[in-house]
Amino acid sequence: MQDLFGTTSLIVGGSSGIGRAMAGLVVARGGEVILAARRRQMLDRAVEELGAAARAQMLDVTDPAAIRRLATSLAPASVDQLFVTAATLAHGPFASQPIDAVQTMFQSKFWGAYALCQAMLPRMRAGGSITLVSGVLSRRPAANCAALGAACAAIEALARGLALELGPGLRVNCIAPGMVRSALHDNLPDARRQAVFSATGASLPAGRIGKPCEIAQAAVMAATNGYMTGAVIDIDGGHMVRQYASAV
Ligand SMILES: NC(=O)c1ccc[n+]([C@@H]2O[C@H](COP(=O)([O-])OP(=O)(O)OC[C@H]3O[C@@H](n4cnc5c(N)ncnc54)[C@H](OP(=O)(O)O)[C@@H]3O)[C@@H](O)[C@H]2O)c1
Repeated sequence: MQDLFGTTSLIVGGSSGIGRAMAGLVVARGGEVILAARRRQMLDRAVEELGAAARAQMLDVTDPAAIRRLATSLAPASVDQLFVTAATLAHGPFASQPIDAVQTMFQSKFWGAYALCQAMLPRMRAGGSITLVSGVLSRRPAANCAALGAACAAIEALARGLALELGPGLRVNCIAPGMVRSALHDNLPDARRQAVFSATGASLPAGRIGKPCEIAQAAVMAATNGYMTGAVIDIDGGHMVRQYASAV
């Protein structure tokens, strides 16, 4: 299927995990991708794997001036799809988590997405779409994740508000993943990470945690379905309906 032939997608966070999987799907469907992230080596590896349809741009989404420079380097009305997955996260007990760690997380996860949407508006082609990424924590809290849940909820509210304000020229949606195996969890020691993955997977109706490509499929569907806007799509292995306590 080459239905994205002739289109350009900017994927911010496209060098790893969910964003990298989005890039693979877009290119497989004939589209061109611009990948943006901070680390040059990761970007170069992704571009090498994706081939001529991909190019890279270094960007730190916590730097609003860098976001503006990236946007102005692109021709007006030259981008069909904007996907924003980039985020660095902060977990910790509410009572002791330093506020500056939470602010840094909001700076990437929320303000990065906000600034990108605003700066990219003149670069988006009419009929295009923006797809943001939140997470199930927006509506299904977990201990030590209150701030991350709040950031996810803010992203979902932003997507809904922008869908209303930017339509009909642009559609805006949000993907809410459950736990996905990606480099996002590399900060955990190996044994602990495996234990978290196994325990979470066992608690879900799907019986396992997700793969980046499964989240990417939903994102590309949202970006290409001309009647979908203002939606928050849960791709979470059933996290939203999982059992609170043992069934009797
Ligand atoms: N994985 C999960 O379990 C899960 C669950 C729910 C929601 N999510 C959400 O899904 C999104 C993607 O997560 P993922 O699992 O794909 O993570 P990942 O594999 O760590 O990928 C994150 C991507 O974002 C880039 N990035 C991080 N901080 C950035 C910054 N300040 N500026 C520019 N680029 C930045 C990273 O590259 P550089 O580090 O080189 O910049 C990388 O390309 C995140 O918003 C995350 O909150 C993930």
